[in-house]
Amino acid sequence: MTPPSADSAACTSLHIRNARVLTLAAPGLQTPRRGAALRELGVIPQGEVLVAGGLIAAVGEKVDAPAGARVIDALGRVLMPGFVDCHTHACWAGDRLDEWERLMRGESYEEILRKGGAIHTTARAVREATRNQLSANLRARLEEALRGGTTTIEVKSGYGLTVEAGLKMLRAIQRAAGEWPGTVVPTALLGHAFEGNLDDYVKLVVRDLLPEIIREFPGIAVDAFCEPGAWTVEACVRLFEKARKRHPIRVHADWQKPTGMIPEAVRMHALSVDHLEASTRADLELLARSNTFGVVLPATAFHAGGRFASAAFFVDRGGALALATNCNPGTAPTLSMPLVIALAVRFCGLSPEEAIAASTVNPAALLGFPDRGTIEAGRRADLLLLHHKDERQLAYELGGNPVAQVICGGRLV
Ligand code: NIG
Repeated sequence: MTPPSADSAACTSLHIRNARVLTLAAPGLQTPRRGAALRELGVIPQGEVLVAGGLIAAVGEKVDAPAGARVIDALGRVLMPGFVDCHTHACWAGDRLDEWERLMRGESYEEILRKGGAIHTTARAVREATRNQLSANLRARLEEALRGGTTTIEVKSGYGLTVEAGLKMLRAIQRAAGEWPGTVVPTALLGHAFEGNLDDYVKLVVRDLLPEIIREFPGIAVDAFCEPGAWTVEACVRLFEKARKRHPIRVHADWQKPTGMIPEAVRMHALSVDHLEASTRADLELLARSNTFGVVLPATAFHAGGRFASAAFFVDRGGALALATNCNPGTAPTLSMPLVIALAVRFCGLSPEEAIAASTVNPAALLGFPDRGTIEAGRRADLLLLHHKDERQLAYELGGNPVAQVICGGRLV
C-alpha cells in the first residue's frame, strides 16, 4: 500500500506551532460582534493549533499532538481564520473595459446603466455563455479568492434578467461550488436591473422566477439592487413580501443616493443591507439598532469613485458590520479581502482589528455558519498563515498578498 503523502491526506493531523494566533474568540463575546467587541481578536501571542479530520481539534499555548502529526512552524507569524467574503457577483461572462474607461472619463454609472450598459452589458454576455463557461469563469475566480485567503464566499446571480438565464447562473454557481475546496453560498439576486417596464418586470420575477427559485434552491437568500435606474423601494418591497415567507432577504441600498430602503428592510427583518455609502445618519442608527447586518463594500468607492460608507459610525452605534469585496465586472473587479481591509481602515474609519473581525467572524454569522470565523476547538479548520508577525500589516500593505498558506477544511491548499 502506498503511504499517503503528508500534503494529500485531508485527515492528516496538522500541528501548527509558534504562531501568533488570532482566535477571534473570548469568553462572553456575543456573535455577531458589535461595538467594542469588534476589536477583540482573542490573541494568543505564542500559540499552537491542532487540526484533525478537517476540524480544529485544539488551540492554546501548548496542545497535545499525536505522533505523526505534520508540524508547521509558523515562525512567530499570524495564524487567523479564513476570510468570509459575504457579498460578490463573481459569476459573469464578458468584460466591461470600455465602460470602465467611460467611468474614468466622468460618465456616471447611472447614465451608463440607463443607456443599456452596466448590468445590461454583462447580462447580454451571460445569456450568450453556456452554463459550463459561466462555471469555468467562476471556478478560476474562486481559485484566485482562495490564494488571497477567502475560504467561504457568497456568489449572487443577477446577470440573467430572464428566468432561463437566472436559473442558468445559479446552476453554474452550484457546479463551481462542488469543485472548490472552500464553501460557496449562492444568492438569488432577482431584482438587479430590468428590461422594459419595471412594473411588468417585477410581475414576471414574482410570478415566474421566484417559484422556480423556491422549488430548486430552497432557503437561499433573495436579493435586490435598490438604486436609481435599477429597482425602486416599492419594487423591492413587492418582491420581498413574497420571498421572505421562505427565504432570507438581502438588499443593496444607498450606494449613490439615500433611497429610504433601510426602514423597509428593518421592518421586513432583512438579513442585511449592503452598500450604505449614501445612507443618512438616522437610517444608519436605525439599522445599527436592528438585527439586520450592514455590509460595507469599500472597493466600490475606490474603483468607481464616490463616497465611502461611514462604517465607524455604524459600529459606534452598535451595528453588526461585515465587509466584503462586492467582486463584479462594473464597480469592484477584485476578490482581495486584504485590499478591502486596507481600504476600510483608510477610508471607512475602522481600526485594523475591527476590519479583521468584520471580514471573518461577523460575515460567517451573516451567512449562517456558526462553525467558522473563529479559531476554537470543534470549528471547521479554515485557517490562514500570514507572511507577517503583526496583523496590522494586513491593513497597512496595499495590493500584495499577505497570505503565505491557506488551510481549507483541514487541508493545506
Ligand atoms: O453593487 N447589484 C449591484 N451591483 C453592483 C454592480 C453590478 C454591476 O455593475 O455589474 C454593485 O456595485
